[in-house]
Amino acid sequence: MGEKPWFWATLTLSSITIVSVVFAAWELLEYRFFRDANYLTLHYLYISRGFAMSLVLAFWAAWFVLRQRRKSEEDLRRSNERYRGLLEDFPGGIILYDRDLRVIEWNGSAERMFGYSKEEICGRALPTIPAGKIDELKELMGKVESGAAVLDIETLRVGRTGEPFPVQLSIRPFREAEEPVYFLEATSDIRERVRWREAMIELEKLASMGKMAAGTAHHLNSPLAALLLRIQLMREEAPGNTNLASIEDGLRFCRQFVQRLLEFARMSPVDKRNHDVADMIDSVTNFFLPVIRSKQATLTTNTAPVKGLEVFADRNLFETVMLILLSNALDAMPAGGEIQVSCRAIPPSRVEIAVRDSGSGIDPANLARVFEPFFTTKEPGKGTGLGLAIARNFAVEHGGSIRLESEPAKGATAYIDLPLAAGIAEGAAR
Ligand SMILES: Nc1ncnc2c1ncn2[C@@H]1O[C@H](COP(=O)(O)OP(=O)(O)OP(=O)(O)O)[C@@H](O)[C@H]1O
Ligand SMILES: [Mg+2]
Repeated sequence: MGEKPWFWATLTLSSITIVSVVFAAWELLEYRFFRDANYLTLHYLYISRGFAMSLVLAFWAAWFVLRQRRKSEEDLRRSNERYRGLLEDFPGGIILYDRDLRVIEWNGSAERMFGYSKEEICGRALPTIPAGKIDELKELMGKVESGAAVLDIETLRVGRTGEPFPVQLSIRPFREAEEPVYFLEATSDIRERVRWREAMIELEKLASMGKMAAGTAHHLNSPLAALLLRIQLMREEAPGNTNLASIEDGLRFCRQFVQRLLEFARMSPVDKRNHDVADMIDSVTNFFLPVIRSKQATLTTNTAPVKGLEVFADRNLFETVMLILLSNALDAMPAGGEIQVSCRAIPPSRVEIAVRDSGSGIDPANLARVFEPFFTTKEPGKGTGLGLAIARNFAVEHGGSIRLESEPAKGATAYIDLPLAAGIAEGAAR
């Protein structure tokens, strides 16, 4: 309190005021009632005036000091609570330890991050340093003591579960009066950040591999086409040569693979325009019908429910995706069967196209993987596993989605839903 001059100033000034008021009041009383009193009475009056004044002053000073102390204690308690709250609610772990790694402070985030409560850990040796990291920490503590900054170091820590995990930490020196230096460590759990970073690196690797594959495919495309043409000519000259026939099969697959790879890693921009959904479907199914018939299968197409509705899409890509779905359906029915293409409008502004077949269906164990690039159940040299991956890229790129439903041995249905270029009512009115 001695550091607060205003406190003593207030106390002194208020005391002087009290003394002056009491003195003046006493003088008035004396003048009013004891003007003619004798010497002895006046003497007693002086004594009692001094006594009363000292008493009033003493009470006033005691009350003033006590009130001030209570206020200071309350301020201190509030400020303690505030700093305790800040410490506890701080999003990172705050740990204070001495040179022997004995824990002195341990906040709520540290409790949650490492799984040790404050009560069980304070006073104990820090248990969060994995065996191989003690020397690193000692070195960091040495740096801190020599005044160097230890900021945002990425390292490992271990919690109650015993599983090491990545953290980012900063250590600062912390001095308290005459105490030796303590180490204040702020730690953040960076598991999520590390996971993202690794995923980004993986993505970058995949993207550059994709570019490489697309480049390779691009270079292989023309020589493969030329080879295929030459083999076809050779076969015409020697129709019974089975070796040439199998070379042609192999080359066809290579060309299909290269084309799929080019479609999958397509780098040209999408050419989106408004197209009538029914028109596009009808033109693909008409184009593919001879292939379907050649495999003893039948096709029924019903595009009437979406007649007049338009989607904003790249026509080539849409037709490629429809061909992919029709080929998959056909491949699932080696002994022939039925393919149904149907469409429906989903109010207010979407359209759904379904390609149903009566083929083998999809093993439930494979259903979750069919959209993965290169996932195929076809024998080597028959399927690229890129068809559905291309279809999914198309759907996502056009603001839609694709899913497959299947009943083993009964068949499968692929559903694509796409947003309409305009609302249904508006489209149908045209
Ligand atoms: N209609 C379907 N019926 C049964 N299985 C299907 C159907 N559509 C897809 N599949 C399964 O999904 C897998 C992946 O299909 P996707 O079109 O991506 O590649 P693929 O057909 O194997 O190869 P490619 O398209 O190059 O011929 C197929 O191998 C097949 O097992
Ligand atoms: Mg396919």
